[in-house]
Amino acid sequence: MTGFSADWLALREPFDRAAREAAAAAFDLPGLAVRWRGGGATLGVLDLACGTGANLRELAPRLGGAQRWRLVDHDPRLLAALPGALAAWAAAQGFTVRTQGDRLRVEGPGWRADVEAVHLDLAGGLAALPLAGVGLITASALLDLVSGAWLDALLSRACAAKAALLFALTVDGRIDWRPKREADEMVRRLFEAHQRGDKGFGPALGSRAVAVAADRLLALGGQLRRAASDWHIDGRQGAQAQAMLAALVEGSAAAAREQDPGAAGAVAAWAAERRQLLARTTLCIGHAELLADWP
Ligand SMILES: C[S@@+](CC[C@H](N)C(=O)[O-])C[C@H]1O[C@@H](n2cnc3c(N)ncnc32)[C@H](O)[C@@H]1O
Repeated sequence: MTGFSADWLALREPFDRAAREAAAAAFDLPGLAVRWRGGGATLGVLDLACGTGANLRELAPRLGGAQRWRLVDHDPRLLAALPGALAAWAAAQGFTVRTQGDRLRVEGPGWRADVEAVHLDLAGGLAALPLAGVGLITASALLDLVSGAWLDALLSRACAAKAALLFALTVDGRIDWRPKREADEMVRRLFEAHQRGDKGFGPALGSRAVAVAADRLLALGGQLRRAASDWHIDGRQGAQAQAMLAALVEGSAAAAREQDPGAAGAVAAWAAERRQLLARTTLCIGHAELLADWP
């Protein structure tokens, strides 16, 4: 799983948004943003593994005020889709978008964000991270993909720069299918083991990521806040939820088969049964938000 399609990111975005809305009350982002500006007029934000910009769409209106975003990803297809995704979102929300050379300015009530896309392979080392003037480093749906060594390097750099960190939508291992089927646990175990494989950054932290990050941040003197941002997907709500469930059935089955080819028959039977159940399935997948600040 080293490639993420724009279609998959678009499919998951409404579920991400609902999950993060539930967690938003735990963080006073406008208040924190004032501090993160450090007396400057503009808040510098660095979004790691930005995809098509979902994290900006979630955070920029909540942070408020003047912001300058650098959005980093290694996938040129996703970076190419970024301006269109931001323009469509801005139009739907009644925000304005202007192009200024190779940058965009998005403006809404009480905030504006100058946006620059940066093509960078984060797995190749963090020396090239554009950290100058950054008050907040953020990433959504990234932390479970990275290794402990990579995370250590990032946290050290953030601590040295006194940049706050907000890791959104990190899986925590809870997967609850209803109605339950006996093979759910077998697939969950294989899927979780697959998540700990190498996603380009070394052996991935998978569902341990938030706990590991929290320990290391505390050791560096960080102040932490944490909130649940679980996906709640209800197939009874119609086609969009069923499409998301279907994608998760296929993705889980593919990962489980790859993890244990010997279980392919049992995994195929599980997927076939799950496909039949989509319209009456509910699924909760546990995620967490982790915010760290420096005293
Ligand atoms: C699950 S997606 C999340 C995307 C986006 N943050 C969101 O919430 O929609 C993971 C992202 O990590 C990016 N990614 C994976 N490996 C990377 C690497 N080595 N360097 C930079 N980006 C990477 C992918 O291209 C993808 O955009």
